[in-house]
Amino acid sequence: MIRLEGVSKIYPPDVHGLRDITLDIDPGEFVSIVGQSGAGKTTLARLLIAEEQPTRGKIEIGGWDITRIRSRRIPDLRRQVGVVFQDFKLLPKKTVWENVTFALEVSGVPTRRIRDVTPQVLKIVGLEEKAERFPYQLSGGEQQRVVIARALVHRPKILLADEPTGNLDSINTRDIIDLLLKINAFGTTIVLVTHNREVVNALRRRVITLANGQVAADHKEGKYLLPT
Ligand SMILES: Nc1ncnc2c1ncn2[C@@H]1O[C@H](COP(=O)(O)OP(=O)(O)O)[C@@H](O)[C@H]1O
Ligand SMILES: [Mg+2]
Repeated sequence: MIRLEGVSKIYPPDVHGLRDITLDIDPGEFVSIVGQSGAGKTTLARLLIAEEQPTRGKIEIGGWDITRIRSRRIPDLRRQVGVVFQDFKLLPKKTVWENVTFALEVSGVPTRRIRDVTPQVLKIVGLEEKAERFPYQLSGGEQQRVVIARALVHRPKILLADEPTGNLDSINTRDIIDLLLKINAFGTTIVLVTHNREVVNALRRRVITLANGQVAADHKEGKYLLPT
């Protein structure tokens, strides 16, 4: 599903974001990416959605070589990889419904299809009753669930979440992780970037530890090994 071969990312003039990363993530996996600040986690995430290009190496998503993807193909990639990033905020003056449908409208999805898919994703995240609310009328955990709903509208094969629980307390964190597990159970591959030890240890799924832009550990039923 995701394959990196000898991927390096150097930010000019000479900052190494990633160094010679080779890894495979299979369809349906739930993988946590951990590492201390500056380890390269966000760089990896940004490469997977072609927000950055690798300096060296090759990246494939679902057998598609996106290493030198043309910008007009990026929307196709984004339909395959749903993203939950901290800098992709909700639009404060739009309702939950509008926040979720916005991306669909922009990409020219027919209204009938939008009316069909939006209640489905709102149901998955448990917010069908709150579709007419504005973000400020929601808790932090609910807002993050809207972000996840928005990431699901194209029925992506992969959901990539960079610190989705970063601003949440432990109860809301648990809810978001349960939601990611539910989405994973539907067959979506999950790549979760996190520095939350409790989350990683409770998941008991694969953990890839990055350090200095390299894969320092990769365990099937991993534990959070870093000092806190
Ligand atoms: N846009 C950028 N320009 C220059 N250096 C960057 C940029 N983004 C990240 N870096 C550097 O690349 C390294 C990895 O950063 P990052 O991928 O953000 O790590 P993490 O998400 O694990 O904290 C760090 O040394 C960081 O300073
Ligand atoms: Mg980061």
